Amino acid sequence: MSPKIFASAAIAALVIIGLVFAGVALSSSAVSTVSDSAFSNHKRPKVAFDHAAHEVLADCNACHHLYEDGVLSDYDSVGMECSECHEVGKGPVPLAIAYHRQCKGCHEGQKAGPVVCAQCHIVPR
Ligand code: HEC
Ligand code: HEC
Ligand code: HEC
Ligand code: HEC
Repeated sequence: MSPKIFASAAIAALVIIGLVFAGVALSSSAVSTVSDSAFSNHKRPKVAFDHAAHEVLADCNACHHLYEDGVLSDYDSVGMECSECHEVGKGPVPLAIAYHRQCKGCHEGQKAGPVVCAQCHIVPR
């Protein structure tokens, strides 16, 4: 490889590495609403959710949980939508109930954060 070609290859590699890291950072911290792709007909406005602020309040697996043989695992399900395990309107913990129980449950327990419909469902679709 000539020095010039080597230099461009090195720059290209750095740009790619930079994009990969930017992607990782964006993927969770840029989340400002919850909008699960499984809900097709929304009855309520979108839910406000400052992901970055919540990352400081709980471990990833507190929300992105994983069960192994029916037992809560130490590992997480980061990268999966809740709806990949909780179905709309069916199963042991249907999707909307899963969200409500997790979000509201913690807010109620900690006596912090919204518990009323219109305090969460506020972002126009
Ligand atoms: C308080 C609950 C909660 C905590 C804590 C949390 N997340 Fe999330 N995360 C969510 C919810 C809810 C979504 C959005 C799901 C949706 O809209 O489908 C999400 C989305 C994501 C996404 C996907 C973003 C996208 O573009 O769709 C990633 C990646 C992610 N979280 C990673 C993490 C990591 C890593 C941690 C720990 C550092 C973490 N989360 C902590 C609840 C949480
Ligand atoms: C990898 C699969 C998987 C993913 C992803 C997942 N769950 Fe679950 N969740 C389960 C299983 C399994 C149970 C146990 C009950 C059952 O069999 O459905 C459960 C139970 C629950 C419960 C009741 C127990 C409790 O912890 O209070 C809530 C609430 C819940 N999930 C919310 C969520 C939310 C919100 C998300 C997304 C941030 C999510 N789950 C993502 C598999 C998953
Ligand atoms: C592990 C506990 C926990 C879970 C789970 C959780 N929250 Fe929160 N949330 C909090 C706490 C604590 C606050 C208050 C933070 C403060 O006042 O500084 C809060 C605040 C909020 C606020 C108000 C933010 C503001 O700027 O006033 C919204 C909106 C919110 N949460 C939405 C959600 C949604 C949506 C979910 C579920 C996807 C969720 N939260 C899950 C702990 C949690
Ligand atoms: C702590 C926040 C929070 C509160 C309080 C809350 N929700 Fe939700 N709700 C959510 C989240 C998160 C979802 C999942 C939204 C999504 O993926 O688009 C959801 C989903 C829903 C859905 C299914 C999606 C849709 O738009 O049709 C309905 C219906 C709903 N909520 C109604 C209510 C009603 C009624 C109340 C008050 C009794 C309420 N919610 C209170 C967070 C909340």
